[in-house]
Amino acid sequence: MRNDDPLAIGDLHSHMVPGVDDGARTMEETLEGVERMVQAGIRKIITTPHIDASLTRDPPAYEQRMDQLDRAWSEVSREVDRRFPDVEFRRGHEVMLDIPDADFSDARLHMGGTSFVLLEWPRLQLPPGTVEVVSRMRFAGIKPIIAHPERYVGFDRELDLAGEWRRVGAFLQVNYGSLLNRYGPEARTLAFRLLRRGWVDYLSSDFHCRSHLKLFHREAVERLAELGGDEQISLLTVTNPQRVFRDEDPVPVPPLAGERTLWARLRRIFKMEED
Ligand SMILES: [Fe+2]
Repeated sequence: MRNDDPLAIGDLHSHMVPGVDDGARTMEETLEGVERMVQAGIRKIITTPHIDASLTRDPPAYEQRMDQLDRAWSEVSREVDRRFPDVEFRRGHEVMLDIPDADFSDARLHMGGTSFVLLEWPRLQLPPGTVEVVSRMRFAGIKPIIAHPERYVGFDRELDLAGEWRRVGAFLQVNYGSLLNRYGPEARTLAFRLLRRGWVDYLSSDFHCRSHLKLFHREAVERLAELGGDEQISLLTVTNPQRVFRDEDPVPVPPLAGERTLWARLRRIFKMEED
C-alpha cells in the first residue's frame, strides 16, 4: 500500500521478514513489530533482511537465498498490507560486503526497487578499501547508504573516513539506539559527532523485531529535541526517509547545535553523554 502522508515517519533499516535472519522469527512477531512502529508514528517501512554480498558471485546459492527471502516476503507483505492499510511496507536488504566487488544488478537487493542499497561490513570491522568500494558503486549507478557507521570498532574519532565516504557519494544511516547508549559509549559519541557535523542523512531503528527489544525512536527524538534539533528530527526521520521511497537523494541536514537547555548541559556535566 502507498502512504502519501507527508508527515509519516519512515524507517529504512529493520529485520522484520520472518525466519530469514536474526530478526523476526514468526509472522506474529512481524505483525507485533509493525504495530509498535505504527504506535511510534512510523508509516513507511523498508525492511532489510541480511544477505551476504558474496552470494551474488555464486548464482545457485544466490537463487536459493533469494527464493527463501521472496517466499517469506510475499507472505508477510500481503498480511501487513491487509492488517495495516495505512502502512507502506517495502523490502530492501542489508548487504554485508564480505567481498569488495558484489554484483548489485538484481533490483531485489535495492531499497524498495530504488537505486539505493543499504550496506555494512562484516563483524563491525572496516577492511581497507571501503572508499574505493563505495566509489565504484556510485559509478555503477548505485546509491550506497552505509548502515550504522558509528558502530564500527575503532572507527576514527576525527571522522576522516566518514568524510571520504560522503565525498565519493555515500549516505549515512545512524541507529536511534546509538544515541541512547544501546551500543556503548563509543558508538554514542560517534553518532553525536556525526550529527554535529551534519553528516547523518537518516535515522532508523535497525529493529530486530523481538518483543524485548526497543525501537528507541521516541527516546532518540526526545534527546535531539533537548538539543534543539527539531529541524534535524524532521529531516532525518521524515523528509529524507520519504525521499528514498521516491528514489531521491536526501536533502542536507544542518549540523546539530550544542546544548541549549539546562537539562542537556547537566547531562554533559554528569557524563551522561560523551561527545
Ligand atoms: Fe541491521
